[in-house]
Amino acid sequence: MGVIAMLVDPFKLRHWLNARKYTAAQVADLAGISRETIDALLAGGATTVPPEQVTAVAGALRIDPSQLGERLRGDLTVLHQTPEALHETRRPIQRDGIHFYNYYSMVAPTGRIAPVILDILCPAGRLPALNNGHLEPAITVNLGPGDIHGRWGEQLSAQTWQVLAASSGVDAWITGDSYIEPSYCPHAYSLATERPARIVSYTGQSNIAALADEVNGWSDTAFAAYLERLDRGLNPGDVFDLLIARRGYDRQGVSAAAGVSSQELAAAIADPLSGLATFRAVGRAVGIDYRLLLPPERRHDDVGKTCFSLDEARTSKRRFGPYEVASMASAPHLPDLTGLFLRVDADRAGGEADLVEPAECHYLVTTGEATLEWLDAAGEVRAARLPADASAWVGPFVRHRWSGHASLLKFGSGAHVGYLDLVELTNTYNPAATARRGRRDRASWGHDG
Ligand SMILES: [Fe+2]
Repeated sequence: MGVIAMLVDPFKLRHWLNARKYTAAQVADLAGISRETIDALLAGGATTVPPEQVTAVAGALRIDPSQLGERLRGDLTVLHQTPEALHETRRPIQRDGIHFYNYYSMVAPTGRIAPVILDILCPAGRLPALNNGHLEPAITVNLGPGDIHGRWGEQLSAQTWQVLAASSGVDAWITGDSYIEPSYCPHAYSLATERPARIVSYTGQSNIAALADEVNGWSDTAFAAYLERLDRGLNPGDVFDLLIARRGYDRQGVSAAAGVSSQELAAAIADPLSGLATFRAVGRAVGIDYRLLLPPERRHDDVGKTCFSLDEARTSKRRFGPYEVASMASAPHLPDLTGLFLRVDADRAGGEADLVEPAECHYLVTTGEATLEWLDAAGEVRAARLPADASAWVGPFVRHRWSGHASLLKFGSGAHVGYLDLVELTNTYNPAATARRGRRDRASWGHDG
């Protein structure tokens, strides 16, 4: 039997190495293949690799070899992992000639990105060597006990060299400073003092991942024309012109078609929030979602990151049902990335404990012991007791609740029903009927005639 060629997309393999936080050498090691083979796969081109080696690489990265099929098993509601299992995922990273980080993986289904925990090992007083950044935006929080330094650029400034403080004991369940980082923002961390420190970093899902993949297949000239649009900044007027031209209109023509004056249209483009009625009339007439013409709200510093301090987190403390919660960093331009400090205390009375969310939740128990109860696929209540350093993954729309005495961190990204899905669903004609018809197994839906 000859060797069967199996094609591996080098961009996807690179993406998963980055997303999973493994070096090429570590994956080669885990998969039991040579370094030359993994390098050849990463280089792309006409590489012939036996399918079982590709399967081994996928296994090492905990993805399906096809990895277009990120589909969940129909019976999967919750996964949880013991502290011991977390510690077993430990892998050291050597960088800049030193043992720089240890990485640990929180639990997630096969093929799904989960938050990672890092031991920060680069000592205080040493400038940490930057990485190259990654496509996925991320939310990062200091777990302490020590403060760390974050670095986000070659040149050090107030915004590229900052302390991410850990809780000094007051409200210790709010573990530390947090921040949101945009795509491809280089970053590295070192200890700020003699005290050790860990962080949780969740490189969530990038909503431009499919687009980034797509443009790999475009010609250079097409890509240059695309960049020309993006370089102009995609303001509402540019987006408007792009959309109407595709429909065979210029601004004058579209005014006539929608029954608005050229002056009204010009005023709407100049000030979209005052021109909503005009945009809605045009959208209705020619088939454009006027919401695309609204200006975005962005909140970030000069390197694109959005920080949230311990003090801000403490100020945000509030009751949420029977839980006490406090915010982590958030950004209006990355609305799918969420983080929350959550305190569970069985002695506290409160409102509705049940949580049912549109997208997956990742939990890490930081102190104490908590019991997670959830409704499984059969509608039965299941429960698991989770001590510190245990983690759990809860699927979208899985009803669950916490009890006991514990501090938790909770993270979410746009996997499953993200905000782009909601934009589509809120537009969709008869969304429930559409969902029912589109579902693979109508019988298990349960309540349609
Ligand atoms: Fe990162």
